[in-house]
Amino acid sequence: LAVAGQSVTICLADEIDCSRGDVIATADQPPQAADQFEATIVWMDDDAMLVGRSYWLKLGTQIVSVTVQQPKYTVNVNTLEHLACKTLELNAIGVAEIATDKPLVFEPYADSRTLGGFILIDKITNRTVGAGMLHFALRRAQNVHWQATDITREVHASLKNQKPKVLWFTGLSGSGKSTIANEVEKRLNLMNRHTFLLDGDNVRHGLNRDLGFTEADRIENIRRVGEVAKLMADAGLIVLTAFISPFRAEREMVRKMLPEGEFVEIFVDTPLEVAEARDVKGLYKKARSGVLKNFTGIDSPYEPPEDPDIRVNTVEMTPEEAAEHIVRQLMPLK
Ligand code: ADX
Repeated sequence: LAVAGQSVTICLADEIDCSRGDVIATADQPPQAADQFEATIVWMDDDAMLVGRSYWLKLGTQIVSVTVQQPKYTVNVNTLEHLACKTLELNAIGVAEIATDKPLVFEPYADSRTLGGFILIDKITNRTVGAGMLHFALRRAQNVHWQATDITREVHASLKNQKPKVLWFTGLSGSGKSTIANEVEKRLNLMNRHTFLLDGDNVRHGLNRDLGFTEADRIENIRRVGEVAKLMADAGLIVLTAFISPFRAEREMVRKMLPEGEFVEIFVDTPLEVAEARDVKGLYKKARSGVLKNFTGIDSPYEPPEDPDIRVNTVEMTPEEAAEHIVRQLMPLK
């Protein structure tokens, strides 16, 4: 007889794809599975929670990626009053909706502490940054299913006679991302490649016009651009994106959204002094004078890639040379 806490070997009668972390339950009383929940979260890190950032969520033996929405409210622990809030600071307790990238087997925390309690882990520092309790699954999560289509991404790509790619340009404002991406796109078109360039300033006039430049808004900006780039790559295109995309975590998130090798991180490496001296749009001047807040490189951080797939130094290279260099690195494109 085995008791709780012991390691046991289980032989399954049927061949079933299951591995470490999966949950086995009795057939007559299966727990629920879902990928969107309402939860109470206790934030335990000095750095405030970032709405939209992808964290690890560990629940029992399951580990999945999770993003947290803007909390519905925080609880004042002295008065139990509900207060409006944009995020959760150290020691704050709040209620928010969360979304995981894979379904979680769960029970509401009220029914099971093991299958209803979780912790949140920062993917870069590996610190435990929060703990939480699942309330219930959101109904919308259970009624949307993945629809398979016959014209697959492979068909789209082969019709265009190319391998889809996402050429992800990152760098400071004024580093030359848009100029170089435009030069690369022109060269690819001369080679009969099917491309599309998504540019920060342009996308912010349409799809993302509701977003500003707080950390949470930049995270959401990159998440949406990542999703659009992924759809375009599914359609067989070579996508070029020119966004500051200041945070490593979100660039990594987009890389993971795409098949291995399809995401190409291109670091447009221009020192702050150089970008500021160019000041093509006059924004650095505004930021220095304090008129423009949260400006990247001045009072909002930029995390340079540690190991970019391609790096171009715009101090030594003209935009044309940088574009030539990038296209050469991308070969062969089929
Ligand atoms: S990102 O950080 O969210 O990736 P994105 O590339 O879309 O930024 O937009 C950056 C462009 O918006 C800049 O090139 C600049 O023209 C403009 N901009 C306006 N305000 C800011 C700001 N506070 N910080 C950075 N760029 C800004």
